[in-house]
Amino acid sequence: SSGAVRGADGAVRVADVDVRDLAAAHGTPAYVVDEADLRSRARAYRTAFETACAQVGTGVDVYYAGKALLTRAVARWVHDEGLRVDTASGGELAVALAAGVPGADIGLHGNNKSDDELRAALDAGVGRIIVDSLVEVDRLAALVRAHRGPDGAPAPVMVRVTTGVHAGGHEFISTAHEDQKFGLSLASDGGDSPALTALLRVVERPELHLLGIHSHIGSQILDPSGFAVAAQRVLALRATLHARTGVLVDEVDLGGGYGIAYLPGDVPLDPGRIAKEVAQAVADAARELGTPLPRLSIEPGRAIVGPAGLTLYTVGTVKPVRLDDGRVRTYVSVDGGMSDNIRPALYGAHYHAEVVSRVSDAEPVLARVVGKHCESGDIVVHEVRLPGDVRAGDLLAVAATGAYGRSMASNYNLLTRPPVVAVTAGESRVLVRRETVDDLLALDVRAD
Ligand code: LLP
Repeated sequence: SSGAVRGADGAVRVADVDVRDLAAAHGTPAYVVDEADLRSRARAYRTAFETACAQVGTGVDVYYAGKALLTRAVARWVHDEGLRVDTASGGELAVALAAGVPGADIGLHGNNKSDDELRAALDAGVGRIIVDSLVEVDRLAALVRAHRGPDGAPAPVMVRVTTGVHAGGHEFISTAHEDQKFGLSLASDGGDSPALTALLRVVERPELHLLGIHSHIGSQILDPSGFAVAAQRVLALRATLHARTGVLVDEVDLGGGYGIAYLPGDVPLDPGRIAKEVAQAVADAARELGTPLPRLSIEPGRAIVGPAGLTLYTVGTVKPVRLDDGRVRTYVSVDGGMSDNIRPALYGAHYHAEVVSRVSDAEPVLARVVGKHCESGDIVVHEVRLPGDVRAGDLLAVAATGAYGRSMASNYNLLTRPPVVAVTAGESRVLVRRETVDDLLALDVRAD
C-alpha cells in the first residue's frame, strides 16, 4: 500500500503498525487494508470527477463497486467519503445495507438477478436497478406491480448497454456485435437495436422510471480513450431515444475499470486526468448531438481499494529448482495461495512481493512465490527477486491485493479464508475474522 514504509531495522510498517505485530496479533495469511489510504483514493476520485464535471457544467455521482471488496466497514468508509455503493448481488446489497448505507445510495447490478434479489432491492428502496435484459424489464415491472400495487412508486431503472468498446490493459477494441452475456447491444441489423428496444420498453412501463443509460467497458484500463468512444455511443443512443419518445434521460453511467499499479514500475491511471478526459468526452458528444449535458456517474472498484490492501504471508518451504537453461529458480512457499488470490492463476496477473520482516544483505535470487494448494498453477508471484537467504518464518507481503483478493477467495483444499484486518493510525482491528475449521464443519451438516 502507498502507506507502507520500511524502517531502519528492515521491518515494514503500514499506517504506523509494524507488520510483525500484525502477524503476531492476527496470524497469517491476512489481508491488511490501510483505511486512510483507501479513504484518500475514494476522495481523490470523487473530487477529481466533481471538479472535471463542474468545469464542463454537470454533476457526478461516484459509486464504489463493492465486488472489489465489501465489508461493512469498507462500505461505511466510502459512504463517509461521499461515494455511493454499487452492488452486484443480494449478498453485497445486504452488507451495504447492514453498514447503514441508505438504500437510495445503493445500485443493484446483475445479468441474472433473482426475484428475491429484485424484491430485496425494492424493499430497500435502492436508488437504481441496472437492468440487463429485455426479460428483466418485464420481470421487474411485474414485481413492482405485485409488490407496490398499481399506484405504487415506480422503480428507478438504468439500462445497461454494450457499446462494442472493450478496454483493459493498454488497448481497447471496438466492434459491432458482441459475444458476451452483459447488457444490451447498440448494434442493429436494420431495426431498433436491443438497447433501444429495452429503453423503449422501460419508457412504456408505468412501474418503471428510466433514470439513464449504463455502460461498463472493462477493467484495469490504462488507456482512457475507450471511455470517450463509449460516451459518444451512449449519448447518441440517448439522443435517439429523445427523438423517438420525447424522453431525455438525465444520467449516463460510464462504469468503472480504472487501472492501478501492481508492479513497482507500473503507472496507474491518474484520477485527475481520467476525470478530465471523460467529462470532456461527454461534453463534446452532447454538443455535437445538440442535446443537453447529462449528469454523469461512475463505478470504480479496484482503483479505490486495490492499492490500499496487501496480503501478509509467512514463508514456509524454500526449494531451489534447476531450470533447463541452467538457471535456478527458488520456489518460496507461503501459507496461503490461490484460495486467497486467484488472480495469477485465473488471469495470469502479476504481483510484487517483498520480505517485510527484516533487512537482508544476501544477493537477490530469482524467486517464484507459490501457495500450499495441490495444484502446480498455485502461483502467488510468478517472478520476483528476493533475498538469497529468504527462509521459513520470514514475513512476505504481496502488494496491491486489496481488490478482488478476498472477494474472490475460496476454500480450495478446505483452507480457511484469511481475515481482513484494517490498520488506522497505529492501530489494527479485524473487519472480517479468520475462518476456522469449525466454520467449515458447521456447513457440512450430514455425515451419512
Ligand atoms: N461496474 C461494473 C458494471 C462492473 O462490471 C465492474 C467490474 C465495475 C464497475 C468495477 O470495475 P473496476 O473499477 O473494479 O475495474 N475479477 C476481475 C475484475 C472483474 C471486474 C468485473 N466488473 C479482476 O480481478 O481483475
